[in-house]
Order: sequence, then structure tokens, then C-alpha cells
Amino acid sequence: MWDHTRMAWAIYWIIIGSFVQAQEFSTTVVKEGEDAIIQCGIQTKVEEGYMKWETIDNGIPVDLAYNLRDGNIDCDDRIINCTLYANGSIQLESVSKEDGARYYRCLRGDEDGYHYYSDHRLLVLSKEKTSSPPLFETPHRESVSSYNMGKKGVLHCYNAPVCEDDVDWNIPVDCYPPSGVIVDREYETIQCNCTDSDGLMNSVTFPVTRQMSSPPSIKTPHRESVNSYNMGKKGVLHGYNAPVCEDDVDGKLPVVCYPPSGIIVDREYETIQCNCTDSDELMDSVTIPVT
Ligand SMILES: *[C@@H]1O[C@H](CO)[C@@H](O)[C@H](O)[C@H]1NC(C)=O
Ligand SMILES: *[C@@H]1O[C@H](CO)[C@@H](O)[C@H](O)[C@H]1NC(C)=O
Ligand SMILES: *[C@@H]1O[C@H](CO)[C@@H](O)[C@H](O)[C@H]1NC(C)=O
Ligand SMILES: *[C@@H]1O[C@H](CO)[C@@H](O)[C@H](O)[C@H]1NC(C)=O
Repeated sequence: MWDHTRMAWAIYWIIIGSFVQAQEFSTTVVKEGEDAIIQCGIQTKVEEGYMKWETIDNGIPVDLAYNLRDGNIDCDDRIINCTLYANGSIQLESVSKEDGARYYRCLRGDEDGYHYYSDHRLLVLSKEKTSSPPLFETPHRESVSSYNMGKKGVLHCYNAPVCEDDVDWNIPVDCYPPSGVIVDREYETIQCNCTDSDGLMNSVTFPVTRQMSSPPSIKTPHRESVNSYNMGKKGVLHGYNAPVCEDDVDGKLPVVCYPPSGIIVDREYETIQCNCTDSDELMDSVTIPVT
């Protein structure tokens, strides 16, 4: 449980945590080599504000195209040649199988920055004709954990099932919500599709089994000095300001330290240990040297 939480936390840090306004997901089916148009879902006119598209590859967002207020449109053709229309739709040219391995995320901008609007996926079919439908191999239907990241949204973590086909062998599996990417809310189920080169599809849905929040974090921006005062036979007094602990869900949390500040204890300690625990019993801990 701790390992999963740590992992989720690590994943969280590599994702741009944008505030969530709305959520939509769509899959666009396209043949290899043809153009695909993905609709953002909002009717944005250039004059009304900014918008941008990003691609998400292995959980890492990369800017793909911007629609700027002055009407300039900028598309990164190192990822894919594309055209961004004033209505928010993006046209991706001559798509390949690799283009189907990413998520495409539409964000709308305002004076506070870009806000996640909708997620999309391409389903790239092979040009050649083939035969029978693919099958999900789910011998180990692993557990799905969701992590509540407070205002930032919810992260789901799982291993996607494997899909096989007599002709195409291992087929990429598209799941939503994706594993390791923060989305606006918690989903009760994860839906996974796999489609072979003939366009024959198989789909599986599995439940989210464990719900967790992210662990709290002790902030020590000003790691203040810790003083100790020898009170002779009475013992030793330590004096310091306890660090602050914050949690995405619970907000500010109490911090428990030992030895406590301002209370005489039996001896001088070399370090002060501080813990904070959130409502899910997830803990963070720091040790501060006595200076
Ligand atoms: C974009 O188009 C140019 C010209 O057709 C081509 O050379 C380039 O490889 C394309 N970029 C991508 C990422 O496909
Ligand atoms: C946006 O504009 C493109 C190009 O004119 C068009 O193909 C597409 O259908 C439009 N999308 C919507 C939602 O109107
Ligand atoms: C799976 O396929 C269904 C039906 O075509 C579609 O509505 C859904 O968005 C797809 N889900 C994913 C994760 O691709
Ligand atoms: C902090 O947590 C650790 C591990 O659970 C425990 O051994 C220690 O006594 C706690 N310290 C304080 C000050 O609560």
C-alpha cells in the first residue's frame, strides 16, 4: 500500500497538475496513413481566448499545438503534422500506429493558465485486410487503485490487460481513465478496448477496487534552529518551531514531535522527530537535528 502510494506520488510530480473544468473522452477511428480530426468539445473562437492541445505519452504531457489570442496557430510538426482550427478541432495528418499510442488532451486557457478540457485517443487501423476478433487475456485481473489528489483530481493506477489476436498478435489496449494520468474525478470502472487491424473490437470493464488519498507532506521551508537548554537535575528543555504539514484532502494537519518543544524531558536529544498523519492514516515524517 505504501509502495503504491509512493509510486502514485512520484507519477504525480511528473504531471502538470492543471485544474479541472470539465471532462470528456472520445476515441477517433482512422486508417493508417489517413488524416484524423479530433474535436475538443468546446467551440472556441480564436478571439475568445487561448487553447492548446498536448499529447500525453507514458504520462508525460508535451505541447502539440497552440491557438493564440492574436490568431496565430502554432503546431509542433516534430510530433505530428497538424492543423488547429478556430473551432478547437485539430486535424492530424497521415497518422501512424505510433500516433495511436498517445493520448491527446485539449486545454482551454484564460488569465490563470490552461485548464484541462477533454482527452482523446486515436484508433489507428491497419491498411491491410485481416480476420477474427481480438481477445483479452486477463488471467491476473489486477487491482485498480485510485488516489485522491484533492483539487488536482484523481489518479488511477493499474496494469492494463493484454489483448491478443491471431493475426496481429499483441494489440495495443486503450483504457479510460488512463493509468498514471490525473483526471477530473474518480471513476468506478476502467474501460479498456482493443481493436485489431480489421476494426474488430473487444472491450473489458473492471472495477476500481481501492480508493486512497495521497500522503500528507511536511513542509520545512524555514528549517528553524532547535535549541536545547540544560535545566540541571530537572532535565533538558528543547525549543523550536514545529514544521507545517499539508495534505491535498485534509488541508493543514497537526504535527506531533518528540521531544516536544517547551517541555522538560529527561535528557538532551540529538534530533527531533516529527510526524503527521492524514485521515487515511498515511504518514509523513521528518527528523530535525538539534543545533
Ligand atoms: C511533416 O510533413 C513534412 C513534409 O511533408 C515531413 O517531411 C515530416 O516528416 C512530417 N512530420 C511528421 C512528424 O510526420
Ligand atoms: C471545425 O472546423 C473543421 C474545419 O473547418 C471542421 O472539419 C470540423 O467539423 C469543425 N468542427 C466542429 C465541431 O464544428
Ligand atoms: C471503447 O469503445 C466504446 C465503443 O466504441 C467507446 O464508446 C469508448 O469510448 C471506448 N473506450 C476507450 C477507452 O477507448
Ligand atoms: C513517528 O512515527 C514513527 C513510526 O510510526 C514512530 O516510531 C514514532 O514514535 C513517531 N514519533 C512521533 C513523535 O509521533
